[in-house]
Amino acid sequence: MEDLLYVDGGNPLSGEITVRGAKNFVSKAMVAALLGESPSVLRNVPEIRDVQVVTSLLELHGVRVDRDVEAGTVRIDPADVESALVADIDTLAGSSRIPILLCGPLLHRLGEAFIPDLGGCRIGDRPINYHLDILRQFGAVVDKRVNGIHILAPNGLTGTKVALPYPSVGATEQLLLTAVRAEGKTELSNAAIEPEIMDLINVLQKMGAIISVDTDRVIRIEGVDRLVGFAHTALADRIEAASWASAALATGGDIFVRGATQPEMTTFLNTFRKVGGEFVVEDEGIRFYHPGGDLHSIQLETDVHPGFMTDWQQPLVVALTQARGLSIVHETVYENRFGFVDALVGMGATIQVYKECLGSRPCRFGQRNFYHSAVISGPTTLTAAAIEVPDLRGGFSHLIAALTAKGTSSVRGISLIDRGYERFTEKLTALGASFGREAPRR
Ligand code: EPU
Repeated sequence: MEDLLYVDGGNPLSGEITVRGAKNFVSKAMVAALLGESPSVLRNVPEIRDVQVVTSLLELHGVRVDRDVEAGTVRIDPADVESALVADIDTLAGSSRIPILLCGPLLHRLGEAFIPDLGGCRIGDRPINYHLDILRQFGAVVDKRVNGIHILAPNGLTGTKVALPYPSVGATEQLLLTAVRAEGKTELSNAAIEPEIMDLINVLQKMGAIISVDTDRVIRIEGVDRLVGFAHTALADRIEAASWASAALATGGDIFVRGATQPEMTTFLNTFRKVGGEFVVEDEGIRFYHPGGDLHSIQLETDVHPGFMTDWQQPLVVALTQARGLSIVHETVYENRFGFVDALVGMGATIQVYKECLGSRPCRFGQRNFYHSAVISGPTTLTAAAIEVPDLRGGFSHLIAALTAKGTSSVRGISLIDRGYERFTEKLTALGASFGREAPRR
């Protein structure tokens, strides 16, 4: 089937959809299960491709994974974990960045690990230097070869003191997954403290780990000899929830996002309100809607938690094309996350990108050659276009733009969106969107 959708825009999205567990937590919790001596059970698991990729990776390593897609449960039994063939791991190269997080658990279980060339979204260089430095500090030997990176720890891993140059989510997870079974104490300063990391800490604590989180981004871990399996319900996907919220705002709609939770979304909710959107927090989820009238322009900076997430930025920018005045968005997490605006400009949006830091404070990308600030002038009427999906979040933003635009857009490469948005075409149908696989007859 062609990887293409024809989307009729210009109608408000209204209705109810459900979000399940967070993509950026579920994949890590599945990796954590490798550390247990007994099976683990994860609930609220969404049907997205990243979960399939981690499942395949674990299975390649001899782990038994039983998945009930409808119920959203995954049972992981790591009893027979073994080294995978490099050629087999390579077949998954390019589809996810998760393989790097298997290193700590595999080093503890087998004394060796292999990382193929890593995938993930094309939103910047996305280096893994912090990860490799951390593994070396624990005593692992990192051997870079043509087909990937071999990592060895024949004599085990020892706790260490690490200071991250930047509060990287992945590097913090790397450290946690490695330190819990390392010998002795580990201290991490400048740690990332995203809610998905806190939930990973919940999982590790259930497994028997000793981890404390201090207020100043310092995490301390006391290594233990053994960990057991866990049973856990994943926290909700706050990126997906915010994406649908932005879709409601951009299309002038009204969406109840069942499963969305307030504490993890406080910063998004403040911004949503400043732009002119309204929301009602209920026990079962959050209703996001456009109350009518003008939307307002804003100045926004993406940041690590508790700041405004980089993954919330792209969907919201589409809504900002409908706001009156000049909005300024300064992206400080990734150096290259505005590639998706070209398509919006092609649809009639007025967006200019800049290399300068246009926010209230300079970031580490200033004085370098990265277009990491954007000025959006609105409101502009978007018109349908032929669009190519660039990456996961940029792709969803294009979809929102197509739903906002007048006419029928063709959106090519929609399978990229399946990586992180569960059954999104079913959800679009539930919200009254008009789209199809066939070109409309004129
Ligand atoms: N960085 C380095 N060296 C490293 C690791 C990171 O320089 O070794 C830099 C990155 O280049 C980036 C910054 O540090 O500029 C932050 O990257 P981070 O490590 O925090 O990101 P990540 O762990 O690779 C996760 C999510 C991303 C999300 C970021 C930030 C997963 C699988 N991915 O990536 O999610 O944007 O944290 O919150 O958890 C997405 O879901 O679409 C997505 C891209």
